[in-house]
Amino acid sequence: MFIVENPFALLSAASEVFTPGVMKTYIVLMILSVVAGTLFDVWHKKSAKYFAENTKRGKKNAKREVSSGERSGMLVKTVTNEVLTSSEFSNPKRRLSHLLTMYGFIVFVATTAIMIFGYAGDAAGTPTLLPLLWHVGAIMLCVGGYWFWFAIRVDVAAEGNPWYRIAPRADMFILSLLATCTFALLWSVTGASAGLFFALFVASATFLFTTVIWSKFAHMFFKPAAAFEKRVIQADGSNEGLPGDFDLTSKELQEKFPDIPTYMGEKPADMGPGIRREAARHY
Ligand code: HEM
Repeated sequence: MFIVENPFALLSAASEVFTPGVMKTYIVLMILSVVAGTLFDVWHKKSAKYFAENTKRGKKNAKREVSSGERSGMLVKTVTNEVLTSSEFSNPKRRLSHLLTMYGFIVFVATTAIMIFGYAGDAAGTPTLLPLLWHVGAIMLCVGGYWFWFAIRVDVAAEGNPWYRIAPRADMFILSLLATCTFALLWSVTGASAGLFFALFVASATFLFTTVIWSKFAHMFFKPAAAFEKRVIQADGSNEGLPGDFDLTSKELQEKFPDIPTYMGEKPADMGPGIRREAARHY
């Protein structure tokens, strides 16, 4: 049964070209490509410099010191909330779709590496859990990813564009993720030989891992850093130089800004929750 068989071991047993050594070399090259692409992106967009300057500016405008204990707490919260449970998504469908895509990808990539480095020459010795998880990971990514592609992404859900309209730079990440896992599944289901589906699987994966400097791939490294930074600037009161939440009826505030009672009366009405008045259906 294909779902509990190591497709990489089946391939290496049937092919003289795709030996375990070739597969291991490919994985190492892809890892190097992601690292190089991410570092180039950091340098090219000057994001490290931006983060450093933003932190300095935040410290200058800070209204209070954030202790190192508090920082550690925020780090843990960033990991448990924004990273592990995609808490930044207010729209529950986008959140669920992201969780499926993210965990699907992690499980698929991790089991690919373990099956290639540990068992590519040993089909019978591969623990059945590994290929099972590999297939489940690919299916999870496909469920979350196709749901996102056909119904959730902003172009379709909010802008009303048809699902087949492609913006190459914006869509290359999701499309190459989907192509990689779709062709991986088709390759495995059809016997894991060195045929067309294998060629398409490798081509999509190579595209995914070598286009990091143009695609949204590196967001998985940058978003956690940005989420942590956001927690710190909210805790130290610097708030990126944005005004705080004011009570318009406060006497102190009205003395500071005398035009408030002039235009809005002594007791300005509560303007309500603004953008949060509506459920987060669009973005
Ligand atoms: C294995 C890791 C991950 C995968 C495969 C993944 C996948 C995706 C995909 C497919 C999108 C939609 C991109 C698009 O608009 O085309 C997305 C968006 C997003 N991801 Fe991830 N993600 C991963 C990790 C993370 C992590 C660790 C975080 C946060 C800590 C994160 C936060 C976000 C956010 C906030 C968006 C919305 C971006 C926006 O609309 O501007 N992701 N992710």
